[in-house]
Amino acid sequence: MSSGLTRLFLALSAFILVLTGVAAAKDSSDRHYLAIQEQYKLDYKDSKFDVAVQQLFPTFVQAKRGDTFRVERCISCHVPDLTIIGPQRAAERLAKDFLKYEPKHAEIAKTYGLTLTHPATITQQLYDKYGEDSYATTDGFHPYTIAGDKPGTVDTVKLPGFIPKFLSPAQNNGRELGLDSVGCITCHNGGRLSLTDSESHLNLIINPEFTWTEGASLYYKYCATCHGGLGEGKIGPPLANQDRLGYFNEDYYYRCIEYGYTDFEHLGSVMPAWGSAASDFHYDPTRDKQPGKVTRVLSEDQISILVQFIRHWEKYETLP
Ligand code: HEC
Ligand code: HEC
Ligand code: HEC
Repeated sequence: MSSGLTRLFLALSAFILVLTGVAAAKDSSDRHYLAIQEQYKLDYKDSKFDVAVQQLFPTFVQAKRGDTFRVERCISCHVPDLTIIGPQRAAERLAKDFLKYEPKHAEIAKTYGLTLTHPATITQQLYDKYGEDSYATTDGFHPYTIAGDKPGTVDTVKLPGFIPKFLSPAQNNGRELGLDSVGCITCHNGGRLSLTDSESHLNLIINPEFTWTEGASLYYKYCATCHGGLGEGKIGPPLANQDRLGYFNEDYYYRCIEYGYTDFEHLGSVMPAWGSAASDFHYDPTRDKQPGKVTRVLSEDQISILVQFIRHWEKYETLP
């Protein structure tokens, strides 16, 4: 081998070694879940499970695509022994651990109306309130209305709930499916295969029931006239678009709503700024269709709730 080639070979080998080293270091620094599992074992001394990545395979048929199962790893950190202790005890621990491990629990609980009673199974009552058929019930959603196409008219919107029909007791021979068979993302969204806090909580819906009703009341008051009664789009683009929902994260949606036409992505559009003006915004009367002065209409918390409401339109079945 010529010395030039040898040097090239050595350089390449060294480069590959460095890459492997970086990957290994990243892998061990990302293993925050191991510490959480150790803590869990201390908190629940009777728990029996391997300290390792825990995977949950939802058991309903729609969770299978061909030969591959849909897997989620939320339980690596939350109730890692879910399949042993069952849904009822798991639901209790989810609320208890939230108080113990989440430093900002009081603030989060206040913003997202947490009751600290976690559902354990999809009961008929829960499905009647938040299921796909829930617009038909009297104790479910209010009938939401939106201005009709003719001036002075209003249309009633039938907003279907977020729990898919195939999880209802009626479709499962009357059986109430538990957390161990439906998994977490059917209600919470989030990065289902990730094992780091930030990546797994990306696009997370914190309190699905609360954001669905609270978010809906904000949405029908401020947004539906332009984005459509079911997020299908009108003057504004559709918000129920699965490709965009799967592509953009919380931060993007938050910025769209907070800054509207004052942010670079929406300059010159009619999308109002519901919070504040982007820091680099300069009013240009030839471009802007709206006044340069922005007054806050929605609080930061309300915008976050709206983002989570929009996230509910992301369909479980179409997640990657
Ligand atoms: C790397 C560990 C880890 C993974 C993986 C993880 N979580 Fe969490 N999560 C936590 C911790 C720690 C908290 C703080 C409170 C607690 O333990 O309940 C938390 C809090 C939450 C909360 C309460 C709201 C909040 O933001 O504090 C929800 C809801 C939640 N997680 C859902 C999920 C879902 C759904 C998944 C999977 C898509 C998931 N988590 C994956 C560690 C994790
Ligand atoms: C049927 C829908 C549903 C499923 C499935 C579900 N959650 Fe929740 N989750 C909720 C609701 C509703 C709340 C708000 C409870 C409240 O008011 O405190 C919540 C709240 C939470 C919280 C905050 C603590 C609390 O109890 O308020 C955590 C953490 C959490 N869920 C984790 C998970 C994990 C992990 C899974 C999967 C093992 C999961 N959830 C599955 C509906 C669900
Ligand atoms: C006056 C009509 C109007 C109203 C009211 C309105 N929007 Fe918009 N919105 C738009 C238009 C137009 C765009 C597209 C802007 C562009 O083309 O850059 C948009 C864009 C958006 C986007 C970005 C969509 C994407 O996929 O990139 C989001 C998110 C959004 N609006 C949310 C909301 C929310 C939430 C509300 C209620 C608080 C609201 N909008 C109220 C007209 C409106």
